[in-house]
Amino acid sequence: MESSKFDEVVSKYRRILNSRSIEYFASSSWDLLEDEWREYLNLESLEDVIVFVNSSDNLVSADCASIPHSLRDLKANLKLFEYNRKCVENPSDLWRQWTGTTRDGLNASFRTISSANGLVRKRIKAKKQHEIDRIVELISQIQIFQKDSADPIDSLVDIGAGIGHLSRMISIHNNISVMAVEGNQQFTLAANSLDEKLLLDSAKIGSRIENFNVKSTPIRYTNFVTEDLALKIDDFAVNSAILVGLHCCGDFSSTILKVFQKSEKSKALVLFGCCYHKEFQCFHFLRPENNENEREISENTSFGKSTVFPLSKKWENVEIDYLLREAACHNNENLEERFLKQKIDLSRYARSYLEKWIWKVSELPEDRNIGMCSVKCIENQTTFEEYIRKAMANRGNHLLDKVLQIIPQSELSAHVSSLRSSQFDSFEVLRCMFAPAIESAIIDDRVELLRENGINSRVVPLFEPSISPRNLAIIAYK
Ligand SMILES: C[S@@+](CC[C@H](N)C(=O)[O-])C[C@H]1O[C@@H](n2cnc3c(N)ncnc32)[C@H](O)[C@@H]1O
Repeated sequence: MESSKFDEVVSKYRRILNSRSIEYFASSSWDLLEDEWREYLNLESLEDVIVFVNSSDNLVSADCASIPHSLRDLKANLKLFEYNRKCVENPSDLWRQWTGTTRDGLNASFRTISSANGLVRKRIKAKKQHEIDRIVELISQIQIFQKDSADPIDSLVDIGAGIGHLSRMISIHNNISVMAVEGNQQFTLAANSLDEKLLLDSAKIGSRIENFNVKSTPIRYTNFVTEDLALKIDDFAVNSAILVGLHCCGDFSSTILKVFQKSEKSKALVLFGCCYHKEFQCFHFLRPENNENEREISENTSFGKSTVFPLSKKWENVEIDYLLREAACHNNENLEERFLKQKIDLSRYARSYLEKWIWKVSELPEDRNIGMCSVKCIENQTTFEEYIRKAMANRGNHLLDKVLQIIPQSELSAHVSSLRSSQFDSFEVLRCMFAPAIESAIIDDRVELLRENGINSRVVPLFEPSISPRNLAIIAYK
C-alpha cells in the first residue's frame, strides 16, 4: 500500500469525511459534494448506491454508466488500498493464508465447539461463538506450526479478555495454560463466576464433557495493561506463548504490539483492532464516569501525537485523525439493513435536525455534538418535540429551553418520520465507502511497525464480516 497515494486520495475528500451525520443539517453537508455527485445521488435509488459502494472493480467499470467518472475513479483508488475482507473458507484456507504454505489433514470445515448438553456455549452470543470457533482453530494451527520448533508453545495470554468467553474456551479446548488480563474489575469478577459455574455444572454431570477438560480454567487478573505486561508473560510462560487480543480498542492495540515486541517468550500474536478513534484510555480507566472527557482529549490530539496512528516510519507523514478513524469503524456489509429495512432507526434524522437548532442558539463547543439519551422513535407517532425532550432529558434546561423557543411550532409538532431524508442517507452511504480503505491503512501501519522491527505478519480475514465486521486479524510470529 502506497502511503503517499493514500494521503493524496483521502486529503482530497477530507471535507466529506470530517462531516459526521450528527452535523449533516447544521453544516449543510450535502453542499460539500460535487455537483455531478449530487445529481447522481438524487437520481439513483439508495439501493443502487449501496450496490455501487460495495461493488468490486469489475462491476464499477462494466455496469454503472450513470455513475460520474470522478466517483468511479475514487472508488477504484480506494479499492487499491483495501485488504480483502472476504473471510477464509475453511481451516486449509486459513492455514494457507497465514503461513503461505499448504497442509493436509486439517478439518474440512470450522468446528462448532460444543458439548452434548450445550453447557460450554451457554450464554455466549452467536457473534462471539463464531469468533471463538475460528480463533480456537487458528490457535490449534499455531500450536501445530510451532510444535517442531525449539520453543513449543505452552501458554496463551488473552489481553483485554472481557468476561472471558474466549479464554475459557481456549483453556478447555487447546490444552494450553491460559492467562487472561482485563482492565475492568467487574468483567474479571463476572468471568470468574462464569468459570466457577462451568466447573460446578460439569462436576454435576461427570468430571468430563465429551473431549473437554473442564477442570482447568484460565488464571485471571485485573490490570490496566502497559508494556510491562511483557515481564509478566515471560514469567508465566515456560517456553513460549501466544498473545491474543480480540477487539482491542484504539491505542490498546498499540500497547499490545509493544508488549509483543518486548516479551522474549511471546512467539505469536493474533490481534484484532476495533474502535480506532479511541485513545488515551488510561483516562477512561481512571475516571470511567467521564466518557465525554475521553472523547474531547482524543478529538483534540494534535497531528503527530496520536497513540493509535501512525506507529510506523512508513506512515509517519500521513494524518488519520479522530474523525477519519471513527469513520473507519463503519460496517459496509450491513448497509442494507441500516438504511433499507422497514423499521430503520428514525432518531438519527431527529438528532441531526436538533443539532442544527443547537448551533443556531449556541456557539459554545461544549454545547455541540453532545451525548444525549437514546430515543425510540415510532413512525407517524413520535413528534420532534417529544424526541427533543426525551433526548435532552439529562442535559438540564438551559439548552432545552433555548431550542424549544426558537424552533417553529409547526416543526415541533411534526412527526420525526417526516424528517427522513434520502440525501442524508446517500451522503452517509458515500462516507462509508472510505471505511475499508482507512481501516486497511491503520492495519497496514501496525503490520509495518512489526516489519520495521524484524517481525513477520500477515493480515487474514478470519470472521464473516456480516457477523463480525472487525474481521481482519494481524497474525504475527517471531
Ligand atoms: C471491546 S472489548 C473486547 C473484550 C473481549 N476481548 C471480547 O472480544 O469479548 C475490549 C476490552 O479491553 C479492555 N481494555 C481496554 N484497554 C485496556 C487496557 N489498557 N488494559 C486492560 N484492559 C483493557 C476493556 O475493558 C474491554 O473489556
